[in-house]
Amino acid sequence: MGEAGQSVIEVLMDHRSVRSFTDEAISEDVVRTLVMAGTRASTSSNMQAYAVIAITEADQKSRLASLCSDQKQVHESAAFLVFCADLHKLMLACRMHEVETGAPGEAEALLVAVVDTALVMQNVAVASESLGYGICMIGAIRNQPAAVGEALGLPKHVMAISGMCIGRSAEAGEVKPRLDLDAILHMNRYRSDGELLPLLEAYDDVQSQWYAERDMHPRDPRWTAVMSRRLPGVEKRRSVGTFLRDQGFLSR
Ligand SMILES: Cc1cc2nc3c(=O)[nH]c(=O)nc-3n(C[C@H](O)[C@H](O)[C@H](O)COP(=O)(O)O)c2cc1C
Repeated sequence: MGEAGQSVIEVLMDHRSVRSFTDEAISEDVVRTLVMAGTRASTSSNMQAYAVIAITEADQKSRLASLCSDQKQVHESAAFLVFCADLHKLMLACRMHEVETGAPGEAEALLVAVVDTALVMQNVAVASESLGYGICMIGAIRNQPAAVGEALGLPKHVMAISGMCIGRSAEAGEVKPRLDLDAILHMNRYRSDGELLPLLEAYDDVQSQWYAERDMHPRDPRWTAVMSRRLPGVEKRRSVGTFLRDQGFLSR
């Protein structure tokens, strides 16, 4: 991962999430470089509607890890970053110019902030991997959004979207197969279900084989079976909608 001379595409193709880290530290300078590279991502109208909170205090990290289901990689990470959608800065700009607006309550503003945040996050991931670090994003930061907001002192119009563990990998890890490109890349028009379904079924076989070859036996390894449980599982995070409303991201 990220060996000297690897092209950007090679770094991207070599990505795998890392869930076990050595105790090698990452300096604040390196963290700053990674986040700086992150901010070079395109950003809607230069709005930069994101904030990144680097967790350096041990107590604060434990508190956040416990809010992320105590995932081991959060505890072990050399750097734990929390990526937030941030319209607060833009509201300050409006206040400076005496403009009153309910814009943060619009779905469009939420999309702008979430897309901007995701782009920064992925840039930081690629930058980290290019330096030979492993990463794992942590969506579990949205398990208890209000408690995370309180722990991080988030003002209104700011919400944690994902965490990211960074560190030196203590595991070889493996590149996970993705869906056939034709299930993702549509030419000119979205494919019919008749074309899509066989591609999903083919991926079911790829996933089943991948787990079987590693002697791993999840409940039902077929991707469609996993997703048929995953998507309804989103309903468990109803507090995300509540927090978005409380934070002023959604007006209704
Ligand atoms: C926004 C986001 C949140 C994620 N949250 C978690 C998480 O909380 N815990 C975890 O172990 N992996 C998490 N992941 C990692 C995914 O499970 C992983 O990317 C996916 O299974 C594909 O595996 P790969 O990254 O090794 O290719 C997250 C990924 C994304 C993009």
